[in-house]
Amino acid sequence: PNVPVLFDASILQREEKMPEVFVWPQADRPSTDLALKGRETEVPLPIIDLQKSGFWKNDEKATKEAKDVIGKACVEHGFFQVINHQVSPDLLTAAHQHISLFFNLSLVEKRRAQRKLGESCGYASSFTDRFANKLPWKETLSFEHSPSHSDVRDYFVKAMGEDFQDAGNVFKEYCEAMECLALGLMELLGMSLGIGRLHLRKFFEGGNSIMRLNYYPPCAQPNLTLGTGPHCDPTSLTLLHLDEVGGLEIFINNKWHSVRPNTDAFVVNIGDTFMALSNGKYKSCLHRAVVNKTTPRKSLAFLPKPAYDKIVRPPDDLLDSDHPRKYPDFTWPVFLEFTQKHYRSDMNTLAAFQ
Ligand code: SIN
Ligand code: FE2
Repeated sequence: PNVPVLFDASILQREEKMPEVFVWPQADRPSTDLALKGRETEVPLPIIDLQKSGFWKNDEKATKEAKDVIGKACVEHGFFQVINHQVSPDLLTAAHQHISLFFNLSLVEKRRAQRKLGESCGYASSFTDRFANKLPWKETLSFEHSPSHSDVRDYFVKAMGEDFQDAGNVFKEYCEAMECLALGLMELLGMSLGIGRLHLRKFFEGGNSIMRLNYYPPCAQPNLTLGTGPHCDPTSLTLLHLDEVGGLEIFINNKWHSVRPNTDAFVVNIGDTFMALSNGKYKSCLHRAVVNKTTPRKSLAFLPKPAYDKIVRPPDDLLDSDHPRKYPDFTWPVFLEFTQKHYRSDMNTLAAFQ
């Protein structure tokens, strides 16, 4: 088939002249060389050892310590890491291998999973689809995970053909592991907010999630562009698994800070919907991804959403005369529509949602 290609990423990554659409305004650009920057402005994200913290074993004292560390991080910036999360290293390796396999396919093949206009699932690439002025230097593959269906596997086979059964099985298993981890984290977060262990788990149980595979090709002029522009996640939590390359940055105290990748860990961050559930106590923080000259980078983002009919509203325990309601009630579809219309890259969209 005759696929219209705007840019060929493999040629672009060697060329010094960037097409204008990838060149971001001066104020948004990563300022210096990534290696140098990493050393200068790295942010040490707290690491919660879910095994040692006793979380999986119901050890009260250790769980209290973990929830205190999480609470502090979430009040400050909303980012923390978890290790000993019970997701098998083999599954993580397989997931990363399938990301490489997929994104290294020819464009014609990747386009079998092409994301259609207005849809949130499928393959999207800045190199072939012009969906903005400032194009992010990346390709993505997104799909939906629903706890009651096996659609991730079906999705792969339907979109890409029988050869993708393995990939489908791996990502289905990955999504199931993520759902389990996310609901476990909801328990810890519920305890850390003082609203009971099960409140948030019950709220999110049964909701669908989005799984997004990110692939950032090398770039000859990484200082002119961004892999992912500054944004806050509109969903509840994001569970990120990063490869060893590095590129995630968080905006704290008016500065961009890089995150040192740890392949043993998941980076967890609070999204806007969670911020609303906590009545603004836990922060949804601006973040972005930078790219580099030499090494392709991969990340996996798992984004749990509330069920469509669930009303996002903080529990009464978090409200009193000193802590009045900050945001109106909403359901996920209503907020998503608002986000799509009123998105601003310098703030969380929730702040404008009234
Ligand atoms: C994102 O936040 O959307 C992507 C982060 C990353 O790839 O590190
Ligand atoms: Fe994000």
